[in-house]
Amino acid sequence: MALLLRFVLLCGVADFTRSLSITTPEQTIEKAKGETAYLPCKFTLSPEDQGPLDIEWLLSPSDNQKVDQVIILYSGDKIYDNYYQDLKGRVHFTSSDLKSGDASINVTNLQLSDIGTYQCKVKKAPGVANKKFLLTVLVKPSGTRCFIDGSEEIGNDFKLKCEPKEGSLPLRYEWQKLSDSQKMPTSWLAEMTSPVISVKNATSEYSGTYSCTVKNRVGSDKCLLRLDVVPPSNRAGTIAGAVIGILLALVLISLIVFCCRKKRREEKYEKEVHHDIREDVPPPKSRTSTARSYIGSNHSSLGSMSPSNMEGYSKTQYNQVPSEDFERAPQSPTLPPAKVAAPNLSRMGAVPVMIPAQSKDGSIV
Ligand SMILES: *[C@@H]1O[C@H](CO)[C@@H](O)[C@H](O)[C@H]1NC(C)=O
Ligand SMILES: *[C@@H]1O[C@H](CO)[C@@H](O)[C@H](O)[C@H]1NC(C)=O
Repeated sequence: MALLLRFVLLCGVADFTRSLSITTPEQTIEKAKGETAYLPCKFTLSPEDQGPLDIEWLLSPSDNQKVDQVIILYSGDKIYDNYYQDLKGRVHFTSSDLKSGDASINVTNLQLSDIGTYQCKVKKAPGVANKKFLLTVLVKPSGTRCFIDGSEEIGNDFKLKCEPKEGSLPLRYEWQKLSDSQKMPTSWLAEMTSPVISVKNATSEYSGTYSCTVKNRVGSDKCLLRLDVVPPSNRAGTIAGAVIGILLALVLISLIVFCCRKKRREEKYEKEVHHDIREDVPPPKSRTSTARSYIGSNHSSLGSMSPSNMEGYSKTQYNQVPSEDFERAPQSPTLPPAKVAAPNLSRMGAVPVMIPAQSKDGSIV
């Protein structure tokens, strides 16, 4: 008798499980901030389920202060999704025909506040079912910086560091040598997967290009580092050599610019004399000559300027005119690319060479 009762009970239970059920297994979904999360929820109906179909998604945010929130609802063949302000406009059913058994949603442009437990509830009386999905949002590593902390000289101790600006933990690091034999110094091998490599008693063999890759479960980022281990005495020599080189280049550039200007001026002069259209403009007065000398060909607009205006004007021109002049002289192959910015050139003495050219120019036109 008891056996029979148990059999009946089991049948009863089995009967219920045959009705509406969600076939998607419970799972944790992990996505990067800004991406779209697909929360699957597929269900099957049974012939007994005859009531109207209702689908409801609830969110229990990981922040425990907040209670379960309805985020989207399908009822009476209509979709309602304006319940939860934090997800406004970011939750959508992915299927256009929910009755076909697909209640999945997409959450777009993921934010850290979207982390929580999402519950898919499907009801078609007498069938009811629900499943929970955990959504985790991680931040990809980005803005990673590689740098040397210390002085990269032979015999010194210093550190190679790799620092991402942001990125969710856990972060994994991997250093690689890109140049030469691509072999990391053996004494560093223990730290190849750490954010900091402590270099002891450096040798010149450590020189080369290194990369550091930072990874977490949703993304990765990389930075490069150039290491030049030199003898301490060589360092001063290297700097002196560089300075001398730059100075030589400056002198050369100044000469070229001076020659070009002179040639252009001569051509201009010839033309003007030939066509006899020379205007009779008085040369600049000696009191304002310093300001004018920097301004070059812009002097025609100076007439209406008050001296106080002109002061500011001449200052900006002082910074701009030389740099334009250097850009206009691409014929000089000796210009070191990007290393010497034009403002530096003017600061380092290129301008005085040009002043005579400018002031003479002013008096000719
Ligand atoms: C839902 O998001 C996935 C990516 O996670 C995408 O492939 C799919 O096209 C999206 N579906 C809809 C309907 O937006
Ligand atoms: C540093 O390395 C050199 C050889 O590369 C060695 O002669 C010297 O003893 C080392 N110094 C220390 C403090 O380990």
